[in-house]
Formats: sequence, structure tokens, C-alpha cells
Amino acid sequence: MFIYKAAVVGGGAMGAEIAQVISYSGLPVVLKEVNEELAQKALSKIRKIYQQRVEKGKMTPQELESKMALVSVTTDYAALKEVDIAIEAVPEKMDLKKKVFAEMDRMLPEQTILASNTSALSISALGAATKRPEKVIGIHFFYPAHVMKLIEVIPGLATSEDTVADSIAFCEGLRKLPVRVNECAGFLVNRLLMPYLNEAAFCAQEGGATLKEIDETMVAFGFPMGPFTLVDALGLDVCYDVVGVLLEEYGSRMAPASLWDEVHRLKRFGVKNGAGFYNYNSDVQSDKTVDDILKKLKPTMGPKIPFSQERLLLAMVNEAALCIQEKITAPSDIDLAVLAGIGFPQTRGGVLQYADELGTDVVLQKLLELSKAYGERFFPAPLIRRMVLAGFLGKKTKRGFLEYA
Ligand SMILES: NC(=O)c1ccc[n+]([C@@H]2O[C@H](COP(=O)([O-])OP(=O)(O)OC[C@H]3O[C@@H](n4cnc5c(N)ncnc54)[C@H](O)[C@@H]3O)[C@@H](O)[C@H]2O)c1
Repeated sequence: MFIYKAAVVGGGAMGAEIAQVISYSGLPVVLKEVNEELAQKALSKIRKIYQQRVEKGKMTPQELESKMALVSVTTDYAALKEVDIAIEAVPEKMDLKKKVFAEMDRMLPEQTILASNTSALSISALGAATKRPEKVIGIHFFYPAHVMKLIEVIPGLATSEDTVADSIAFCEGLRKLPVRVNECAGFLVNRLLMPYLNEAAFCAQEGGATLKEIDETMVAFGFPMGPFTLVDALGLDVCYDVVGVLLEEYGSRMAPASLWDEVHRLKRFGVKNGAGFYNYNSDVQSDKTVDDILKKLKPTMGPKIPFSQERLLLAMVNEAALCIQEKITAPSDIDLAVLAGIGFPQTRGGVLQYADELGTDVVLQKLLELSKAYGERFFPAPLIRRMVLAGFLGKKTKRGFLEYA
């Protein structure tokens, strides 16, 4: 099915950007909001994104107007009668999303694909709120949607292959990088990212290194920012909610470090409210809150295994191996996703290439040591054991998670 016209339902932080991306690709898009004021606010935000491109000399004012002519806003589903795909971007509340899916199902043509930009809710559950679950899919953009290339395309249990193919083609038409991710809690990127970020907190609370040392080590490895700076940028409240979803589905191996609990309890959510792991208020000379939390936590723990960049990365490698085992996505897509969605250093090729460089036998041995010290969160994925038995040792044998010429 070719997509001639699209809709976005919800024009907040993500919805307005998604509508901008769609119009930029040349497709007409209609954005639905709850009232005229919010609809106009979304329209202004879209114009502002284009205006920034004009100011940077990346487009002319005439081109801006021709792109804006593709965008319309509404408060009424009646204006969505001709769309081939509708992307829901309302707040992350299951009850609200189910209500919106039921409304879209009632009001939109029966062949229209109904997509959700949800970060963590079940696509299968949203499908069940409609009479067309085969047409319901996750199309998960990353923030900021007009900058980030990666999109996770997530079929639910009842989604048809046609819907998957049409959605991937649609995302490619937006000049994005779609990666198919079969439904699981956290989808792919958050499922790989959170154990890495959480492990940084475990290392800090054991006293193996300071937050700053951990951040600097990961930046030296090639990440654009360290794990604590990243959590502060994403918002500890958002990360904590995601970890809650992971914990519910995967059990205690995803439990947040006590340091996360304590900083979250103080409502230090990061840059957005002035303080998180670090303090961002310029008038604050010194803030000992996190140091005091660390002092309180340390006596009960102690570094059984010293902090190293490897320890953080192995948490991600092990989760990636579990994803491959569960057929969540193709191995090569995992590396694409971490490069485009997590900021994994391009020079390292991705988390699986990193593991293959280390050698899967070395990965297994280190995971065994870590699981002896820390328990189930480092239990090696059975796939890694099988790969070692099969002699798929990584780059040195030209075959590991990936194959090498
Ligand atoms: N913000 C992020 O970084 C981010 C990143 C990726 C995915 N997401 C996901 O995107 C979705 C939206 O998040 P957001 O941050 O843009 O939220 P937001 O609160 O900024 O915007 C949501 C908008 O939806 C509107 N809305 C509510 N009910 C509606 C209805 N019935 N019809 C039309 N509009 C309605 C609200 O008025 C609001 O403007 C969530 O599922 C979130 O998990 C967010």
C-alpha cells in the first residue's frame, strides 16, 4: 500500500516533530489535537523547526512555505478521513491510548494503518482495542524526532506482514532508519540502554569510581556523553519508568541500583528540574547530596569487581545476546540501532562488533566472573555459551555474533 497522506494524533513534544518530519518528506499531514489552542501551538512548533533550517541556510523561506502548506491541524477526526496512516503520540497512559485507538478505529477508513509512538506500552494491547489489530503497529521515533534517524518498527502479535512492510517503506520514505523489533518490554534500544546505565550506578555506589570518572571513561571510549550525564539529559523520571516496565517483564535482573532509587526519591530528575546526578543550577556552589547518598550506600557494599568500561558494556552485550536468542531483531540491526539510537561510538562498529572484537569466549568468561560476584543480572545468555561451543569466537574466527570476510 502506498501512503499518500498521513495523520498525527497528539501534537506535543513528539507529535509536532513527527508531523514536521512527514511534511519535510513531501507528504501531506494532518495533526489532531484536543483543542484549537494546542493545535496552533503544534503548528507554531513545526514552523519553528523549519525556521531554524532557514536561519542555518539549509532551506529558503519559499521552501519553508511550501512545506508548511503540506501541514494542517484539526481538533476533529473528520479531517482524518483520507489518511493512509495515523500515528498516535498522546501521553504515555495505556487507558488514554486505548481510548484514542478505539476512536481512530471508529473514525478512520478501515484500510488505514494505526501506529503508536509509544516508548514502552504493548502494541498487542493497543491492537486489541480496535477491530483491525492486523493494521496496528508501533512506530517509535526517538527524541528529537526531526534529528534522530532511528525508528523502531514494532509489530504486535496480530500485526500483518503487509502492515510491517508498509510501515518500513513509509519510514524509509521519511529518510529515516527503520529497524524491525518484535514486541518485547523496552523494545530494543531501551532494553539495551537501561542495563548499561544502571550498571554505571552500581559501579558508583560500590565506590569503584566517582560519577565523573565513570562518565569520563565512557566518553574516552567514544560515547558522546557519559551514563550519568545521559540519564540527567533523558530525565531520571523517564528512565525510572522504563526500568519499571523492564523489571515487571524480565524480573529482578533489571532492578534499579539503590543510587537510582535514592536520587529518584529526592525528585532530582536531571537537567529538566535543575539537578539530577549532577547539579545544573548555576547559583549552587557545591551540592553534596549525591556524595552523601553514596557515603550512605557504600558501607553495605564494596567493589567485588572494580569499575571498568567493560563491565558496563558487557551488561549491554548480554542483553543484546538475549534479544538475538528471542528473535527480537536481526544481529546487524542491533548494531545499527545502538549506533543511531544510543550514540554507541561509530568507530567501534556497534555493541556486537565490540563483543566480537573482544571474543565471545572472553565475553563468556567475564560474564561468568561477574555473575559469580553479582548474580543473575550477569548470567550469560545461553546463546553465548553455544557460540563458544560452536567455535564462533568473534573476529578471530571470522564468525561471532556477526560474520566477517
Ligand atoms: N518525549 C520523548 O522524549 C519521547 C520519545 C519517544 C517517544 N515518546 C512517546 O511519545 C508519546 C507522546 O509523548 P510526548 O512527550 O510528545 O507527550 P506530550 O505530553 O508532550 O504530548 C502529548 C499531546 O497529546 C495531546 N492529546 C492528548 N489526548 C489527545 C487526543 N485524544 N487527541 C489528540 N491529542 C491528544 C495532548 O494535548 C498533548 O499535546 C508518548 O507515548 C511517549 O512515550 C516520547
